[in-house]
Amino acid sequence: MSSTPAFNPPKRVLMGPGPSGANPRVLRAMTAPLLGHLDPEFLRIMDNCRVMLREVMRTANEVTLATPGTGTSGMEAAVMNLVEPGDRVVAGVCGYFGERVALMAERAGGVVTRVQSPWGSPTDTAGIQAAVKAAGGVKLVTMVHAETSTGVQSEVQPVSKVAHEAGALLLVDCVTSLGGVAVEADRWGADAVYSGTQKCLSAPPGVAPITLSPAAWDRVRAREVPSNTWYLDMQLLEAYWNNQRVYHHTAPISMIYALHEALALVLDEGLEARWARHEKNGRALQAGLEAMGLVLHADAGYRLPVLTTVRIPEGVNDAEVRGALLKRHGIEVGGGLGDLRGKVWRVGLMGESSTSGNVLLFLSALGKILREQGVKTDQRAATDAAAAGLERE
Ligand SMILES: Cc1ncc(COP(=O)(O)O)c(C=O)c1O
Repeated sequence: MSSTPAFNPPKRVLMGPGPSGANPRVLRAMTAPLLGHLDPEFLRIMDNCRVMLREVMRTANEVTLATPGTGTSGMEAAVMNLVEPGDRVVAGVCGYFGERVALMAERAGGVVTRVQSPWGSPTDTAGIQAAVKAAGGVKLVTMVHAETSTGVQSEVQPVSKVAHEAGALLLVDCVTSLGGVAVEADRWGADAVYSGTQKCLSAPPGVAPITLSPAAWDRVRAREVPSNTWYLDMQLLEAYWNNQRVYHHTAPISMIYALHEALALVLDEGLEARWARHEKNGRALQAGLEAMGLVLHADAGYRLPVLTTVRIPEGVNDAEVRGALLKRHGIEVGGGLGDLRGKVWRVGLMGESSTSGNVLLFLSALGKILREQGVKTDQRAATDAAAAGLERE
């Protein structure tokens, strides 16, 4: 008998804040034979990724690549390269990830003013405008497009206008939006946009798309002191990704295959069609939850279709419900983060996981478990409301 432990991960329905389910084509691509990272065929694959990333991020930026590491590596690359010691930074914080960006900017030596919004409301553009004016000489404004901790989507363009009028650059976290909600780096005028692979791109976690505008690239190259990060130094990364091909690290080959395949799938589906799919499924889920009698946490009008926060009803045991969803139905959803711990569930409908079947499965499983916990839920109304949303053209 073998003494090695069995490796047999169970099949799950990934409806949490990420990772989402991966497309089988992406997983198959990862089993392709390895190439050397400087093999001409592999370089061609990297080049294709660059071209497709520009399409998916809607940008003509030359400096567009994927950093090795999860979404946080994209965040760290953007922040550590754009912030120099003493730089004034204004950070829009409306949840956990906005705060993470602010903390990183402080580690880079930035003098950070936080503009807080309640957790459930969008980025406070007027507050950012006031903070930028009060601080003077602000170099960078930061915001999160899709705040995964609260399920809130913020409008980027108004913040972009405020930042640029003050001569600052704009950094936008699009980890949860890219491939699921419209990300239009150039139309927004965003200077740094980064994302991750494991959310709406439906690949495993492992690399982080990032793009820098010409103004951001000029800022990076004009730094007086090199950034404190070597691994995520954008100048070194760009010299590896562009036709100089200067060795910097060994590209995570199978993850680049996965990125390639994931981007091809996004473009095959069509960006607009993909956004529409996420919109329809997300709104159907939200209609179903409300019809069931539950309360959505994020402000109406700013709810992300790809990540819904729903309040945990009074007296209901958070861990028991999530445990039952996982054990009995194989469904993973997320608990609340930070201030929302124990108060909300976070339900993702991202990439491969954004299907009408998952909407109906989740509503029926949750309704049953809540009824067992003594909560009155109107299951019929929930299913009817969701089904009506799913049938809408
Ligand atoms: C908005 C946002 N930014 C950044 C991250 C960090 O990404 P990762 O966990 O892949 O490092 C996440 C992850 O959930 C996120 O939702």
